[in-house]
Amino acid sequence: MSLEFSAQAQQKIAALCGRYPTKKPVVLAALHLAQKEHGHLSDDALRLVARTLDLPYAHVYGVATFYTMFRREPGGAQTIRMCTNISCMLRGGYEVLAAFEQRLGLKKGESNAKFTLVEEECIAACDKAPCALVGTKYVYDITPAQVGDIVAELERDPHPEGEVV
Ligand code: FES
Repeated sequence: MSLEFSAQAQQKIAALCGRYPTKKPVVLAALHLAQKEHGHLSDDALRLVARTLDLPYAHVYGVATFYTMFRREPGGAQTIRMCTNISCMLRGGYEVLAAFEQRLGLKKGESNAKFTLVEEECIAACDKAPCALVGTKYVYDITPAQVGDIVAELERDPHPEGEVV
């Protein structure tokens, strides 16, 4: 059975397509929507994006596998991406990652029904290191002591992020 977009997602994609002379600039937005609606970017989800935008599957696959924010496998409802690149590492990023692992009961790269924990490369907020991307929301200057509150807040409101698209 092939996947479909919701009517709302179809409207968003159509509106975005109207802004550009070609459909390639809409691939990222369509992938975000596909991941949001179908949980992860399976081969069927990539085919849905390719079919919707009338683009080659290979192009959509290339974009989806280039960016780390796209998930090819099922995972938790919420992804926590803890940066441990140089600025964050120097300011305690690994200690914060360890605190997330302990609080969530997950090792980096693992998922449960609620969360996926990812060790991330630079997320472009080095001046506020160490930092994490929780869904699409940045959390800055994290200390290990704050991790419990961050996770507790996520458990209360599992979708703190704004709309990506
Ligand atoms: S090194 Fe962590 S945001 Fe750049």
